[in-house]
Amino acid sequence: MTEQQRLAQVPELLLRWYDGSRRILPWRENPEPYRVWVSEIMLQQTRVEAVIPYFERFLSALPTVSDLAQAPEPQLMKLWEGLGYYSRVRNLQKAAQVVCEQYGGKMPDTSEQLSKLPGIGAYTAGAIASIAFGERCTAVDGNVLRVISRVLERGWDIRAVSVKKQVTALVAEIVPDDRPGDFNQSLMELGAMVCLPNGQPKCASCPLYALCLSREHGRQEEIPVKPPKKQRPVEERVVYLLFRDGKTALHRRPSDGLLAGMWEFPNRLVSEKEGTCVTVPLTDISEGKRAGHVFTHLEWQMRGITAQAQEAGDYCWVTADQLRDEITLPTAFRVYRKQALQILEKQRANN
Ligand code: ADE
Repeated sequence: MTEQQRLAQVPELLLRWYDGSRRILPWRENPEPYRVWVSEIMLQQTRVEAVIPYFERFLSALPTVSDLAQAPEPQLMKLWEGLGYYSRVRNLQKAAQVVCEQYGGKMPDTSEQLSKLPGIGAYTAGAIASIAFGERCTAVDGNVLRVISRVLERGWDIRAVSVKKQVTALVAEIVPDDRPGDFNQSLMELGAMVCLPNGQPKCASCPLYALCLSREHGRQEEIPVKPPKKQRPVEERVVYLLFRDGKTALHRRPSDGLLAGMWEFPNRLVSEKEGTCVTVPLTDISEGKRAGHVFTHLEWQMRGITAQAQEAGDYCWVTADQLRDEITLPTAFRVYRKQALQILEKQRANN
C-alpha cells in the first residue's frame, strides 16, 4: 500500500468516529465565522478546557467584529487576562479593524484573504475557512502533524518547515469535498483526545488502529521523534511591592519584547543595581514572597520585597479596586498581585 492509498482511508474512518465521539464545544455547535476565529486564536496556545470560559465571556462582552474593533484596550486586555501571549488579542483587534474598514464588517470567506489579516497564519486561515465557510482546504497544527507522522511511521522532525509542507500536501489530497471543516477538526480532535503526545496514546480506542504503521510496529511512543529540548535560561529577579497613600506602584513594560506594553510591578534582575528599577526612597523594607514563572523561552525565579515609598516617582499608583478590576497583569505576577491586594486591603481596614 502506498502512503496515498493508506491516507485515502482516513477520512471515512475519522469522520465516523468524530460523529460519535467529538466534544461538544461552543464554537462547534454554532460555527459562525467570528466565533470560529476567536476560538482558533484562543486555542493557539491554550487547551480547550481552559479556553471555554474565556470564549463565552469574550463573546458576551464583544458579540460582533465591530464590537471587537472598537473595544477599549483595557477591556480587551482584561478579557484576555490569564490566557497569556497578549499579542494574540492585539492582532485580533487589528484584524477586526481591517475587516470593518475593508470588508464592511463581514469576515472574508477564503483562506487566502483570511491569511492576510494580522495574526492569521496558514493554520488559522485554513481552520476558519474550512469550519466556517466550508472551503476545501487544510488546517495543519501540531496534532495533525503527530497523527499523520504516526499513521505513516515517519521519524521526521515535525518542527521542520519542510515536514509541515509535506504533511500539508498529503492532507490536501484527502480533505473531503462535503465536510472539510469536520474533517480538519476530526484530525485535531484525534490528536487531542486519542493520539496523545508524551505518554500513552490510546491506540486501543483509535479509529485508525488498523491503518497506523507506528502502532503496527509498536513505535507509537517514539514517533514523532523529539530532538532534545534546549534548556530555558533562568532569570533571577527582584519584584518590588511599593505602597504609598493606600496605593501600589506599577510600571508599564516597553512596547516591544517580552510582555510588550503590559503593566508590571517594578522588578529587576538580581544582578542589576536597585537604582535601575527603584527610583524613590524606601522605608519599612521587608522580604516578600518567592515565585517562579515559566515562559516559552525563559524562566523567571522571583523574590519579592515590600516597602513604603516616600515619593511618587514615575510610577503609576493604583488602588486595590483598580488593581483587581481594571489592570491586566501578566500571570507571572499573580502571587504578587494577591499579596499587594492583601496589604492594601489591610491598610484600608486600619484607616
Ligand atoms: N484546536 C484548535 N482548534 C481546534 C478545533 N476546532 N477542534 C479541536 N481542537 C482544536
